[in-house]
Amino acid sequence: MVRKGLVAVAAAVAAVGTYDVLQRRHSLLRNYPVVGHLRYLMESIRPEMQQYFIERDYDGMPYDRDTRSTVYERAKGTAGEDPFGTELDVYQPGYEFFVHSVTPRPLPEEAPRVRIGGPGCTRPYDMALLNVSAMSFGSLSAQAILALNRGAAAGGFAHDTGEGGISAYHLEHGGDLVWEIGTGYFGCRTPDGGFDEKEFARKAAGETVRCVSLKLSQGAKPGMGGVLPGAKVNAEIAAVRGVPEGETVISPSSHRVFSTPRELVRFIGRMRELAGGKPAGFKLCVGSRREILAICRAMVEEDITPDFIVVDGAEGGTGAAPMEFVDHVGMPLTEGLAIVHNALVGVGLRERVRIGASGKVATGSDIVKRLIHGADYTNAARAMMFAVGCIQSQRCHTNKCPVGVATQDPRRAHALDVEDKYERVRRYQQATVHSAMQIMASMGVTDPGQLRPHMLRRRVSHHEVASYAQLLTWLEPGQLLSGGPLPEEWEQAWETSDPDTFIA
Ligand SMILES: Cc1cc2nc3c(=O)[nH]c(=O)nc-3n(C[C@H](O)[C@H](O)[C@H](O)COP(=O)(O)O)c2cc1C
Repeated sequence: MVRKGLVAVAAAVAAVGTYDVLQRRHSLLRNYPVVGHLRYLMESIRPEMQQYFIERDYDGMPYDRDTRSTVYERAKGTAGEDPFGTELDVYQPGYEFFVHSVTPRPLPEEAPRVRIGGPGCTRPYDMALLNVSAMSFGSLSAQAILALNRGAAAGGFAHDTGEGGISAYHLEHGGDLVWEIGTGYFGCRTPDGGFDEKEFARKAAGETVRCVSLKLSQGAKPGMGGVLPGAKVNAEIAAVRGVPEGETVISPSSHRVFSTPRELVRFIGRMRELAGGKPAGFKLCVGSRREILAICRAMVEEDITPDFIVVDGAEGGTGAAPMEFVDHVGMPLTEGLAIVHNALVGVGLRERVRIGASGKVATGSDIVKRLIHGADYTNAARAMMFAVGCIQSQRCHTNKCPVGVATQDPRRAHALDVEDKYERVRRYQQATVHSAMQIMASMGVTDPGQLRPHMLRRRVSHHEVASYAQLLTWLEPGQLLSGGPLPEEWEQAWETSDPDTFIA
């Protein structure tokens, strides 16, 4: 009797295990047949048990459960309306809300796009409001790159390659690419680690490369270089990055191609030329206002502007970084965005340069807030990882990602079914942009250009609310060049900024 029972249990386990391995929707079950169900069980016992069993190992700045659930539901197409009312404490300092209108507008039929391309750009690109932020092949698996790029192709948005070069997986489905190069110049690197103009021009000519981007820094680890250990430099990674197989590769902390603001601006102009007139820009996490103003002075003097600047916030994600950097280096996105936006307004160049924003952008309200803080469009990294199945197990740096997203282990990566996940990426992006459009419509806004800082309010104490028009300083067009009075925090930074040095 007991034996029969055991046989029946074993048969049931075998049947569940076989089903788990063969099904395509859950990468976790493909990698962890049978036992993986425990996670789904925990998920259903919300929220305290899940908090204890699933989230106890987290450190750094992980996403909260509600935001992740929103992304999962949108990606799966199961998102509905929420019942009952807000669970947020609307009297808690830090709570933010949009100012809606008594005359909301109808939703525009098409999602707005942002034209990127200032003077010198002959092949402008119309960027979506939400795009895939930079994550390299190497930090992400081939399957994840395939799913992200195919999702971008299906949904008509851009996919930033990250600094690891353009792989075959970035090209297979023809999604629009922003090709990023960092201090390692991967994919266009001379044997001694410098920038190879010819190789850059050759690859930038690729049909799906729509923009080229120079990464100066990243919010999660500004000012840090990187080391890719020789053991990880397999033949494929070596070919994509243009480095010798099996040898340790070092990305220095600073660039060789420029050391002054003027040289930076000239180099961006050169990238645009080499890319045949495609939009060229840079990405950074803001350090100081003075450095941004020094770059702006160089733009004015050289009459060269980047077509876009992506501002990354300290709250942004990373595949791997020391905890001290994740937690304590770099400016948060709100302040960084406001500085870059106002600096460009102040030198009269805002019309020429589009601003992208990244750092914990995951929902429609995140998008609208960032547009109000000074951005023209947004990028998401970890939210896009959630869309391809990331469960935030925070194993990216161990090569043991349980769902095949951030690993180079082919067995684990194979669990990620591109066919299923690309559609989730497309659905997530579309639903999130739709939500942003709904919020703007409720505010009486039909075009993101109509958003103003007073339309976002923040509770600053239990009995006081202030708008972002009051909380941040907003410059008038050309104010920095006019010689007139400047707000105190701008005055000193402007006076001490120099287009020929980053050093104070
Ligand atoms: C796994 C991973 C890899 C990343 N790789 C790059 C990279 O190669 N280049 C880069 O500029 N940023 C990289 N980032 C940073 C993101 O592009 C983005 O700036 C940051 O994560 C903020 O977005 P998030 O909060 O939406 O994750 C990476 C982030 C993650 C999570």
